[in-house]
Amino acid sequence: MSTAKTALIIGASRGLGLGLVQRLLEDGWQVTATVRNPHKAEALQALGKVQIEQLDMDDQQAVIALSQKLKDQVFDLLFVNAGVKGPDNQLPGHATLAEVGQLFFTNAVAPINLAQRFVGQIRKDSGVLAFMSSVLGSVTMPDAPELALYKASKAALNSMTNSFVTQLGQKLTVLSLHPGWVKTDMGGEGADIDVETSTRGLIAQVNAYTGKGGHHFVNYKGETIPW
Ligand SMILES: NC(=O)c1ccc[n+]([C@@H]2O[C@H](COP(=O)([O-])OP(=O)(O)OC[C@H]3O[C@@H](n4cnc5c(N)ncnc54)[C@H](OP(=O)(O)O)[C@@H]3O)[C@@H](O)[C@H]2O)c1
Repeated sequence: MSTAKTALIIGASRGLGLGLVQRLLEDGWQVTATVRNPHKAEALQALGKVQIEQLDMDDQQAVIALSQKLKDQVFDLLFVNAGVKGPDNQLPGHATLAEVGQLFFTNAVAPINLAQRFVGQIRKDSGVLAFMSSVLGSVTMPDAPELALYKASKAALNSMTNSFVTQLGQKLTVLSLHPGWVKTDMGGEGADIDVETSTRGLIAQVNAYTGKGGHHFVNYKGETIPW
């Protein structure tokens, strides 16, 4: 029987999700990873040895179907990475009801829906549930007012995570993680760090917090962020 640690990574077609899969494979983990569109999963496929599943996290029926399909698997790590930036103009009065609804559903509601579905499959006592938050979700963070809605959606994710954690019946380590400002499609070319630096740091935090229990808001360097 394999003794490799197992991970389920949500949103792994590109950017940080793809980097997380790559780092975990380098470390000998057994990885299941989801993409919205399997026809755009070449980069993930090229990593080899990954079980690739299709999932649009916003689709509750698809989340239920995937949890059924994977019901016999136990994960040492469930990492909900998928997220969106939202509308270009985030000044109140510009974004539409549909745009705001989409942003908050994908960034704050869908991750918790998914976690609720899969929490029973996270390894008892030592398992880690990680959400890709952002330092911009810290409510007194003054930076990036042009991303006001995105910031609020990550603050909402943190709040939803907190509510979820208080209702958990099992010991679990829950991480709300800030990856740094990272060069991805979302972060842009002018960002501070590359995907490898960020994801190496994020996995180090997962390993460091394994078995500790509780809910922690930390960045990829392990520094605690105020809520
Ligand atoms: N880059 C940064 O500086 C930074 C900083 C702080 C936090 N973050 C957070 O880190 C996470 C990853 O960001 P990134 O920079 O890697 O962004 P990215 O390059 O834009 O990648 C976003 C990923 O999320 C997936 N996704 C979006 N909506 C989804 C949905 N409804 N269901 C399933 N998958 C979905 C995308 O899939 P498709 O390929 O199908 O679109 C893609 O794989 C996000 O939560 C983001 O908010 C990023």
